[in-house]
Amino acid sequence: MPDLKSILREPRYDLVKVPTPLQRLSGFERKLGRSGLFMKRDDLMEIGLGGNKLRSLEFWLGAALQQRADIVLVAGGATSNLCRLTAAAASMAGLDCLIVHNAEESPANRERSFLNRLFGAETRFIGAVGEEERGAATKAAAAELTRQGRTPYIVGDAVLGALGYVLAAFELHEQSQREAAPLRHVVLAGSMGPTEAGFIFGNAMLGYPFQVHLVSVEYEQAELEARLCRIYDGIAERTGFSVGGLEQAPLHYHMAHLGGGWGVPTPESEAAIVAFARTEGILVEHVYTAKTCAGFLDLVANGGIPADEPACIIHTGGTASLFAQREQFQTVS
Ligand SMILES: Cc1ncc(COP(=O)(O)O)c(C=O)c1O
Repeated sequence: MPDLKSILREPRYDLVKVPTPLQRLSGFERKLGRSGLFMKRDDLMEIGLGGNKLRSLEFWLGAALQQRADIVLVAGGATSNLCRLTAAAASMAGLDCLIVHNAEESPANRERSFLNRLFGAETRFIGAVGEEERGAATKAAAAELTRQGRTPYIVGDAVLGALGYVLAAFELHEQSQREAAPLRHVVLAGSMGPTEAGFIFGNAMLGYPFQVHLVSVEYEQAELEARLCRIYDGIAERTGFSVGGLEQAPLHYHMAHLGGGWGVPTPESEAAIVAFARTEGILVEHVYTAKTCAGFLDLVANGGIPADEPACIIHTGGTASLFAQREQFQTVS
């Protein structure tokens, strides 16, 4: 087993009780007439309604506390899971939290970010600007806080955040070894990259037990690959592990569910939300998990993942957003 010391040496703030459940999808097994279907429930965590970002926040808050920060800054849209979970975790850690929302300050957006203020964060709406301008506004806010004598820490370093999912790959591997037939395939959302790159790196450290399937929910393949490459190389540099390049990884990109892009539902993503709700009683939402679930169902129902090879989808959370998505549904009122 590879030695995780260089990762475990990083300061970490404890937020996630591990392992999160590895749940059998027996309803889909029955429906599809196959066995070996699982979901890793990273949505079932104890803080802030859970989700993948909590694994990253363990490292980000660890770094913030080590640097003796007294306030963390985070940026995202009004329904951002990262913002919500940062607000919750920062409160627990005794840190103030300033959220920079790249959204208009409309009543609807204030409602969408209500939980952030409930968790004690200050929310600042800077209008519907792009990622770059949002980053610049966040840096400017941090500089202003420094001038006022505060010690800010900006949450979001992709490489540091990815370490949470290097550990998650080890966690899933250990759970998988306890099953009658170990997992062969893991399906994950393809998005900004830290979650996926961390998991793929952990998979490489383990000697590639998993075929990793990324269902893109945000970028075209070239952009997703470039992001993953940067983070993957960054993890190698930071941890000192040389596992070979990303091109050696058993990695499959699935672009068919991207549709109109990030946050834009497709008929298949809505069908997947309905199918998971009615078959397993599990909630998934339009932005991240529904398209991933649609990709998973497509793979396991149509031969992309052979019937005798156990497969697992990682539920990365985000369920809170579902409550703001009611109007996007075509088939459920
Ligand atoms: C629920 C959920 N799933 C998946 C992702 C994608 O993770 P990453 O940004 O690490 O690619 C996010 C990102 O915000 C998310 O909130």
